[in-house]
Amino acid sequence: MQDASKTGYYWQGEIVRLRSFRESDIGPKWQEYQDSHARQMLEYRIELPVMSREQYAELLTSPDDDPRRISLYVENHDGGLVGWLNLFDLDERHGTFGVGISIFRDHRGRGYALDALRLALAYAFEELRMQKCNSACLVMNAASSALHECLGFQREGLRRRVAYIGGAYHDEILYGLTHEEYAARWRATQEPK
Ligand SMILES: CC(C)(COP(=O)(O)OP(=O)(O)OC[C@H]1O[C@@H](n2cnc3c(N)ncnc32)[C@H](O)[C@@H]1OP(=O)(O)O)[C@@H](O)C(=O)NCCC(=O)NCCS
Repeated sequence: MQDASKTGYYWQGEIVRLRSFRESDIGPKWQEYQDSHARQMLEYRIELPVMSREQYAELLTSPDDDPRRISLYVENHDGGLVGWLNLFDLDERHGTFGVGISIFRDHRGRGYALDALRLALAYAFEELRMQKCNSACLVMNAASSALHECLGFQREGLRRRVAYIGGAYHDEILYGLTHEEYAARWRATQEPK
C-alpha cells in the first residue's frame, strides 16, 4: 500500500495505517529487536546469544507457521514505519484472541499505539467475528497498563510471579475487552476515511 491514497483505505486511523511486511522493515525491526526493555515487556525475557541481523532477517522473511497469528506493521501518515503489532491465539471456536504491540522508542508518546490497536481490534471484532480479547502486561509496565485502560480493557485479575527478570519475580495484570465493550466505546469512530 506504499502509494495508496489515504482516501478509501480502511485500515487507517487518525495518525497511523496498518499494512503488511516489506523488505525495508528489516532494518528498523532489527533495531527494535535489540531494545532489551521492549523484549522484557513483550516476551518477559532477554536472551543470549542475540540473533545476528542475517538470522533475524531470515526469521522475518520466512513464512509464518502459526495460522492463528496475524502480523501487521504500523506506519504513520507520512509512510514511516513506527512499530508493529500481532493478533495471536485467534481461536475460532471460542472467538478469543490476544494482542501484542511495540512502538519504536523514538516514536512513543504520540498516540500511535492507541490508534493502531483501535484499528486492529476493529479488524478482529468487526471482520473476524471475534468476541473477546484477552491480554496481560507486567505490573511494572506503566505504558502498557495505561494503553489497555485507554482502550477500554477491564482489569480482570492479577497473576503473581509469572516472570523472572533481572533477578526478581514479577506479577502481571490480566485485562479483557469484549466485543460489546469495544463497540460501545469505538464503533462510531470506525467509519472509512
Ligand atoms: C506500550 C507502548 C506500545 C505504548 O506506545 P505509545 O505509542 O507510546 O502509546 P500511546 O502514545 O498511544 O499512549 C497511549 C496511552 O498510554 C499512556 N502512556 C504511554 N506511555 C506511558 C508511560 N510510559 N507511562 C504512563 N502512561 C503512558 C499515554 O499517555 C496514553 O494515554 P492518554 O491518551 O490518556 O494520554 C510502548 O510504550 C512500547 O512499545 N513499549 C514496549 C513494548 C510493550 O510494552 N508493549 C506492550 C506489551 S503488553
